Amino acid sequence: MEKTIRLTVDFHNPSHLAMFVLSVGALVVPLTMLCYVGLQAVLGQAYNTFDQNPQFPVDQEHFSQSSNNAYSSEIYSVGHHQVLSNHRKVYNQFAASLFQNLHEGICNPDNSTASQLTRDKNVIPVHSHNDYWRTLPVFDAFSNGMNSIEADIWLKNDPTNDGAMTLLVGHNEPYLQPQHSVENLYLKMLNNLLDEVNCVGEIPSSDFRKNGFFYNDPHTTTYLYIDIKTESTETYKVFIRTVVENTTLIKNGYLTYFDFSKKELVWGPLTLVITGNVPTEFIFKEEIDDPFNLNKRISFVDAQLINLDNIKSNNDSISVIGSGSLNEIVGTTGIKSFGGLNEEELSTMKKVVEEAHNLNIKVRIWDTPNWPVQIRDMVWKQLLELNVDYLNVDDLSDARKF
Ligand SMILES: *[C@@H]1O[C@H](CO)[C@@H](O)[C@H](O)[C@H]1NC(C)=O
Ligand SMILES: *[C@@H]1O[C@H](CO)[C@@H](O)[C@H](O)[C@H]1NC(C)=O
Ligand SMILES: *[C@@H]1O[C@H](CO)[C@@H](O)[C@H](O)[C@H]1NC(C)=O
Repeated sequence: MEKTIRLTVDFHNPSHLAMFVLSVGALVVPLTMLCYVGLQAVLGQAYNTFDQNPQFPVDQEHFSQSSNNAYSSEIYSVGHHQVLSNHRKVYNQFAASLFQNLHEGICNPDNSTASQLTRDKNVIPVHSHNDYWRTLPVFDAFSNGMNSIEADIWLKNDPTNDGAMTLLVGHNEPYLQPQHSVENLYLKMLNNLLDEVNCVGEIPSSDFRKNGFFYNDPHTTTYLYIDIKTESTETYKVFIRTVVENTTLIKNGYLTYFDFSKKELVWGPLTLVITGNVPTEFIFKEEIDDPFNLNKRISFVDAQLINLDNIKSNNDSISVIGSGSLNEIVGTTGIKSFGGLNEEELSTMKKVVEEAHNLNIKVRIWDTPNWPVQIRDMVWKQLLELNVDYLNVDDLSDARKF
């Protein structure tokens, strides 16, 4: 026998109406709170992955000390691999397992250096600004799930190599050191990390792609920003020649490139982005002149989000990502309210993000407020809600806690 239970509420009866409102309230309020707590837990998880990281062999204590001191850093070697570190103790712990497989000729991507760094990490939308300031450049960013890093480069004569031109990494000219070359600190390091995770060889499949740095997300590309500090064209040429002559990044299919014949953008695990003194004219003409005889362009110009006109006139993927400061986009120097950006600023930002996304350009916003923390976090949250792809972060531990 079936019974139908029917609840009727007579809304004309004030006491019924009051009961109804109270009962609905009694259900909705706790449910909303539960959802909110759940959401917080999920978000917290995504941004807090570092804290439950059992694999990374560096104790966390050192990461909370801000080591914004590139000048005390030393370079260490493991075989022919070189690592820049601001803390000998951190380095000693780390070195034990660094590229062990590569040295011993073992092919096991599952316990490679990249896997040990990034296992159980979700990729988070954060750009490691001035990455060489970190205790361990590259490794700090990757172990925090950040797939965008940046190095400033300077074209200099290398006194240890008959005065040959070399590209040194550093923030200020007086502190540059001959052994801190972009080749040693970044290119070879990234090359080695990728070699360890791609040792199995090509799987014959049309959509085969090389593995990237992130264990949970092997098809995520990583952006290496090269910020040119010296004369644009010469510095750029030496950079590309270094990649071509002194790494296997191209040969092994690790780089994102634009194919001149097929007119096609092909993604790889590593994407080179040029910023600072960008030789825009030279790069725009590469497709015609092919100055490096590659039949492809292996670097991309960091688009200026407030001026996408020259990008619009080019359909050859000259840019895949762009950046702008909060100030130049929304026209405010400081956010005064704890509510973060106001309606008008949000709508300006939204337009810029949409315009870039329509051109297949990812968006990074820099120079967001750092203090007070509530405003900083509110602005970060608002930007992510507007689908901004990357936040710019100097202190990785802040981003981790966010
Ligand atoms: C990875 O595993 C192999 C066994 O497959 C082992 O010989 C090697 O030492 C391990 N490497 C690391 C870095 O743990
Ligand atoms: C490549 O490496 C060699 C040997 O270290 C060096 O002499 C040369 O200058 C490098 N080439 C470029 C383009 O940096
Ligand atoms: C791309 O540019 C070329 C030459 O500049 C032009 O012929 C072609 O139609 C353009 N393609 C698209 C999809 O805009």
